[in-house]
Amino acid sequence: MKKIVIKRFLAKLNLLPLIEQLNFYRLKFKNRHINNQFVRENPNIKLPPDFYIYETFQLNYKKYYTNGLPTAMWLIELVSEFKLLENSAILDWGCGTGRILRHLPKIAGNTNYYFGCDYNPKYVKWCQENLKNIDFQLNQVTPPLPYEDQKFDFVYGISIFTHLSLEQHQKWFEELYRILKPNGILFLTTHGDAHKFKLTEKEQLAYTSGDLIIHDFKKEGNRLFAAYQPPSFMHQIASKNKLKILKHIPGEIKNDTPQQDVWIFMK
Ligand SMILES: C[S@@+](CC[C@H](N)C(=O)[O-])C[C@H]1O[C@@H](n2cnc3c(N)ncnc32)[C@H](O)[C@@H]1O
Repeated sequence: MKKIVIKRFLAKLNLLPLIEQLNFYRLKFKNRHINNQFVRENPNIKLPPDFYIYETFQLNYKKYYTNGLPTAMWLIELVSEFKLLENSAILDWGCGTGRILRHLPKIAGNTNYYFGCDYNPKYVKWCQENLKNIDFQLNQVTPPLPYEDQKFDFVYGISIFTHLSLEQHQKWFEELYRILKPNGILFLTTHGDAHKFKLTEKEQLAYTSGDLIIHDFKKEGNRLFAAYQPPSFMHQIASKNKLKILKHIPGEIKNDTPQQDVWIFMK
């Protein structure tokens, strides 16, 4: 039976919040040795509270911190094909606990200006208090962002549209367009074909015909609200918002784990 069918059944019984808590404690226990070892070996690395790491990524300190660095390098390498990042304003939209953004000054250099925003006040507060030389701001789940028109050379959103409704897709594409400079670059990740197996047969048909599919077990923005974006949907929304697609890298399934699709657009 598909996970989604079981999840819907548990949601009807109002059991999802409990299962979410149990899953958090299960992972905390399972990863306790490697996480404690990480803290012993890296006493000076600032780590967010466990639940924040769990909600935004995976409760594994090494994957959160050490592997955040190659992810940040991969991001900059992909974008460098299209834009030289010098004296540039860079925004991490939906920065969570700064998993990627905290590494960018080391990689992309200190001539750039780094900004991060998120709709979750707990994450923004933690980032403001712990990550220096980066400007963190709170936004709402709906636009606008607290930035002026055409402020940014480069905006990225890693796994953000994956938690938003159809209505917010349109609103956020307009908003991200507004804050980008002409020729600015937008980098997004989505749940593409590699995630299709999570859908019911009926949903797979709708996905294949280009519909956005939503699994909403919590309010949008939360990890329990999932959106699946067929590539044709992304093409349509980009052209509606006058964004040119520079690159699409379909996600693969690696070690049984589906990767997200990567989209790079230019204004
Ligand atoms: C899966 S986490 C990814 C966090 C971060 N991008 C990373 O890769 O570690 C999704 C993040 O998107 C944030 N988020 C969801 N909707 C948002 C919105 N409308 N505006 C800003 N942030 C949002 C959540 O609070 C959460 O931090």
